[in-house]
Amino acid sequence: MNRRVVRGVSELYTPFDRVEDAAFVVDDGRYAWVGPAAALPADYAGWPTIDLGGSAVIPGLVDSHTHLVWAGSRVDEYVRRSAGVTYQEIAAEGGGILATVEATRAMSDAGLMMLARRRAAAFQRGGVTALEVKSGYGLTTEHELRMLQAARRLGEDGPLRVTTTLLAHLPDPAEDRERFLDRFVSETLPEAARQRLADAVDVFIEDGAFTLAEGRRVLEAALELGLPVKAHAEQFSNSGAAKLVAELGGLSADHLERATPEDLEALAAAGSVATLLPLAALLLRAPLPQAAQLRASGVKVAIASDHNPGSSPLFGLLPALQLAGVATGLTVHETLVAGTANAADALGRPDWGRVQAGAAADYLVVNGAEALLPLYTWGQPSIKEMVIGGQTVWRAEG
Ligand code: NIG
Ligand code: FE
Repeated sequence: MNRRVVRGVSELYTPFDRVEDAAFVVDDGRYAWVGPAAALPADYAGWPTIDLGGSAVIPGLVDSHTHLVWAGSRVDEYVRRSAGVTYQEIAAEGGGILATVEATRAMSDAGLMMLARRRAAAFQRGGVTALEVKSGYGLTTEHELRMLQAARRLGEDGPLRVTTTLLAHLPDPAEDRERFLDRFVSETLPEAARQRLADAVDVFIEDGAFTLAEGRRVLEAALELGLPVKAHAEQFSNSGAAKLVAELGGLSADHLERATPEDLEALAAAGSVATLLPLAALLLRAPLPQAAQLRASGVKVAIASDHNPGSSPLFGLLPALQLAGVATGLTVHETLVAGTANAADALGRPDWGRVQAGAAADYLVVNGAEALLPLYTWGQPSIKEMVIGGQTVWRAEG
């Protein structure tokens, strides 16, 4: 049976609290009890016990913003950008997101699935136990649904937990703008909802993508269908998208490079998460909100990989947490919270990303006695075992 006591935990981050010499109880894939080993209730005395022998434990990492399903490559753009050509200049030439749309539409379902699986495996090796996957490189209803199906299937195949998001990324240049939007809200969105392919809806509100009014239309249509909302907000310009997310009680506003203190306060007041995507900010040379400002606003901060072929070709979450720490001034502990519990909240899954009674038993056994070691070793995950729903998913050899 899937029930046991885990002890011999030198240090545990729940992630909010640090517990020394900890123990926890897993029952049917969830934590039944968590605390100092000395306080373990006698009721669990006869339960099967695993002794970690002084290893540390942290919650499984949660990546709350990825564009994992895509085909093609944009290494050419990456190289050109390194020589000074801008992301917007490339987009204006019909490259950028549209280049990936073309390659993704041309790829078979099986091909998309294989690519997504390979990428997911890399995230898993790096400690990610749950991730969000967006559509957005299809644009037509047929191709958006194909992307969502691949994402959904990835979660069904397991062991990674996956949430899916329908993303209104760009108006399709092949279609009249007004017609594209009408179709998106009257066909793509309801069809994704009907087939239960989308757990949330996202819209890219930016010059060159959707206006604030168009974004509102997409998100309001989603809410009417009972789907939670979020937005790519304030990436290159301040459009009011973060305040829109707050007004609509959305899950999160993501990017926020150009967010104002008022935007962060509005998100905080609404209980919406502010999601930072550090590699996209660094590669596109945009500023990141700073720790003092984030703390003063009281907003809940998540940090995500934004894995995508253009602005963030990043295959893991730990490097995003590490980069964000350096670039914003958030503490190592704050970045761990941002990559676990807060990220889970941004997915509407407050039962993920934390080691506490009632939550899903998704955790990482650290390759050492100090729980924050994986955030210290760049390029070397320092994790020796991954557990999802109480089941070991992988264990490092040796
Ligand atoms: O989150 N901001 C818009 N979308 C993606 C980039 C997508 C791409 O370049 O392919 C992002 O950064
Ligand atoms: Fe994104």
